[in-house]
Amino acid sequence: MTAPRYTELVSNLPATVPFVGPEAHMRASGRSFRARLGANESGFGPSPHAIAAIEAAGREAWMYGDSEAHDLRAALAAHHAIPPEAILVGEGIDGLLGNLVRLLVGPGDAVVTSDGAYPTFNYHVAGFGGVLHKVPYRDDHEDPAALLARAEEVGAKLLYFCNPDNPMGSWHSARIVQRMIDSVPEGTLLVLDEAYIDAAPEGTAPALDPEDRRVIRMRTFSKLYGLAGMRVGYAIAAPPLIAMFDRIRNHFGLGRVTQAAALAALQDQDWLRGVQHRVAQARGALSAIAAENGLHALPSATNFVAMDCGRDADFARAVLRELMGRDVFVRMPFVAPMDRCIRVSTGPEAELQVFAEVLPLALRAAR
Ligand SMILES: Cc1ncc(COP(=O)(O)O)c(C=O)c1O
Repeated sequence: MTAPRYTELVSNLPATVPFVGPEAHMRASGRSFRARLGANESGFGPSPHAIAAIEAAGREAWMYGDSEAHDLRAALAAHHAIPPEAILVGEGIDGLLGNLVRLLVGPGDAVVTSDGAYPTFNYHVAGFGGVLHKVPYRDDHEDPAALLARAEEVGAKLLYFCNPDNPMGSWHSARIVQRMIDSVPEGTLLVLDEAYIDAAPEGTAPALDPEDRRVIRMRTFSKLYGLAGMRVGYAIAAPPLIAMFDRIRNHFGLGRVTQAAALAALQDQDWLRGVQHRVAQARGALSAIAAENGLHALPSATNFVAMDCGRDADFARAVLRELMGRDVFVRMPFVAPMDRCIRVSTGPEAELQVFAEVLPLALRAAR
């Protein structure tokens, strides 16, 4: 009998997935979540215009999507006042990160990230045989100076930096991020993951410079635009780098319905502003719930709040288990010392009320 002959690289990869999805948890428990506050989705939903566009495009779903995503790229270009050649759309930031790593990282190549930062990036690096060098967080923030120093030291091809950060919700100012871009070592490309930028205060994102070859920036429709289920994000970088993706990307990967949804969502900036307001309110409500229960909510520039449970990781894990056991979906950081926290996404009031009801029970059970 023959067997598939896997590459040596893949044969040696661990059989892990970056995240266990909420549906898998529900299948395992046999129950539905009462509050879905774990994946930093937007429970406030997408713009009604995006929903209408999805319905209309559904009738055209027999056709492939435009492989150049012309209209969406043009609209993004106009929105950001940059040329379309500086924009690549793809299957979420996750998909874009995979292709970026494929472009630049081969077996043995050095890559730098923060220890405890977004694990999907690490998963892609491992999948192409890159060697990850991890820099500790500093006071619950990613540490730009230490990341740069490590990138220089190991000759990193990629330096991943997320601003605002997941899982802590912390952020650095545009001034610091710009200084980081200006200090990227020769031969290193900075990957600036701005998945949560729509939830951040003014002055968090440096000005976009589509000519800057030192950085690629990634944004998504999954968070405040409320389209996580559509899988669409975009990268902004100098046109020569964007053009390289054409050599390896899945040209028809972005569906017709998805493109229509993203375009309509982008065109409804009023909806986005409304969601920004609701996210800010929900962050306040989550902080209040945390305080009422003796937990400390960390300041957040994202659509989630990290709550310091005040003890060690075992305790935070127990709180998480008790919440999940009561059908409240939340997550927690994977790495110390951030794993003293649980991470709770913002969402509609009814779901926050469920969380408020269940948290004291979970804490009591965990203690
Ligand atoms: C930091 C970060 N980057 C990227 C993503 C994924 O974005 P997308 O849905 O566009 O793949 C997430 C989602 O949680 C995230 O937290």
